[in-house]
Amino acid sequence: MGCTVIVDGFYGDTGKGKIVSYLSVKDDIAVCARAGVGPNAGHTVVHEGKTYKLRMIPCGFVNPNAHMMIGVGVLVNPEIVLKEIRETGIEKRFGLDPQCAIIEQKHIVLDQTDENLKDVVKTTGTGTGPCNADRVMRIAKMARDIPELKEYIIDVPLIINKALDEGKNVLIEGTQGTYISLYFGQYPYVTSKDVCASAACSDVGVGPTRVTDVVLVLKSYVTRVGGGVLEGEISSEEAKRRNWDEYGTVTGRQRRAAEFNYNLAKRAAMINGATQIALTKLDILYPSCKGEQNYNNLESEAKAFIKKIEEKVGIPVMLIGTGPSVEDIIDRR
Ligand code: IMP
Ligand code: MG
Repeated sequence: MGCTVIVDGFYGDTGKGKIVSYLSVKDDIAVCARAGVGPNAGHTVVHEGKTYKLRMIPCGFVNPNAHMMIGVGVLVNPEIVLKEIRETGIEKRFGLDPQCAIIEQKHIVLDQTDENLKDVVKTTGTGTGPCNADRVMRIAKMARDIPELKEYIIDVPLIINKALDEGKNVLIEGTQGTYISLYFGQYPYVTSKDVCASAACSDVGVGPTRVTDVVLVLKSYVTRVGGGVLEGEISSEEAKRRNWDEYGTVTGRQRRAAEFNYNLAKRAAMINGATQIALTKLDILYPSCKGEQNYNNLESEAKAFIKKIEEKVGIPVMLIGTGPSVEDIIDRR
């Protein structure tokens, strides 16, 4: 598999965490490197009966032989990183870049009080936008300045590129989603940087010529939090009726919901240079698919849905999520 980049083709919360965890275990990876904005992300991993809610640590930690890294582009909240290192027990196989910018209390306060951020953009309030602003102003603190992080500082680009030189497998874990990218989303209802595949590579110090595959993660329906347009949005009551009501991992807010959007999926595949699709939560649309691991056993309507996605987007659906656990997946690779 070489170097695989995992990105979200909608508005975030498509279930990337589960896909990253599955690939980490299945594909015997050497390194899983976290890209994306920072702790505004919330990834849920259900593994061996335990549920982990992660905001900083790569979801690939479930592979005990793999090294977990946070790339230079990612904003770090030291308190959250240290807590998650302890919770996942990865002290001996974790590292982050010396030039990750550090989220401070003042960034969090500003993110939660600034009227535009709070009431218009409706940010997660985790301080990421104000921290990125300070980073651009060249006044941000760096991970290398924080004594508590000292033992974890490593040369992330060197380690990843060396692993690739040696023919090992690497996963680059993107966060957020194509349509909340600062560039490709509906400005100003976006996060504070680009979060597409090229940006994810840049976040961890990997050049575009090294990438083998880009996996576009799409959920079987669309959700978004915060402001901005959501085409085909259904009411929150209707979402509850369909079992599409979801609540933010970081904020607890009910997510807005709409039907699967083929046009958005196709455009996301283009922008990210996607080579394959991972479709998640098929069991929510088709409950008979729950826990299924064999494509042939899917009901015919579910197969027709998958076929339609492949036809409209133009790339194959290789992974299909059929339940919350890492093992609830159909692998067609
Ligand atoms: P910020 O990233 O906290 O500045 O928030 C900007 C917008 O992006 C808001 O609409 C957030 O709800 C949204 N957002 C940021 N991170 C995520 C994520 O990981 N999943 C879904 N939405 C996100
Ligand atoms: Mg999330």
